Amino acid sequence: MRHLHRTLVDFLAGLLLLLLAIYLYLAFGNPPVATADKPFPLEKKIASIPLKARIHREMPAASPIPATDDNLNAGASLYEDKCESCHGTADEPSAVGRTLFPIAPQLWIKHANGVVGVSDDPVGETYWKVKNGIRLTGMPAYSKSLSEIQLWQVSLLLSMADKPLPDDASHTIGR
Ligand code: HEC
Repeated sequence: MRHLHRTLVDFLAGLLLLLLAIYLYLAFGNPPVATADKPFPLEKKIASIPLKARIHREMPAASPIPATDDNLNAGASLYEDKCESCHGTADEPSAVGRTLFPIAPQLWIKHANGVVGVSDDPVGETYWKVKNGIRLTGMPAYSKSLSEIQLWQVSLLLSMADKPLPDDASHTIGR
């Protein structure tokens, strides 16, 4: 019993020391807080593991509306109005998107892995991100400013970023 007591006291003292060390690091250790700072080790992983898990749990399996010309054209107008300032168009990358941390990915440009924007993501995943936003990044939540239909229209549009689009939508997104 005495032995157990000692172990518990040691454990609590260790825990306190650890908390103190974490506090001292935050207060004096210069962790990166500026957008221009370099990310700290594992920052990307720490942010993306819970985000992926949450989206996986909650994203709808399919779009409730079809990818008709009308829906894609409406999605392109919404994109021009709400998203283009950060995410750019096919002929003009966003200047401000590059200055955010994390940067806002250009959604009409082929990335190094050959994928255009988020066209390789399930449409339900893009819908979740547009609806709920991504915490501690510049990505806003649109659940209050766009209707359900509008959220799907712009998500469907992005899911087809590597495919031919109706003329109006093509023109709006700059190709
Ligand atoms: C104020 C700038 C800003 C605006 C406006 C904005 N976004 Fe974003 N968005 C971001 C940033 C920054 C990220 C990157 C977040 C991250 O790295 O986790 C992002 C991420 C995303 C992603 C995920 C990209 C990926 O590679 O997984 C999608 C999809 C997206 N935005 C869609 C939209 C749509 C659709 C709109 C308009 C309705 C919009 N965004 C408006 C800043 C913005």
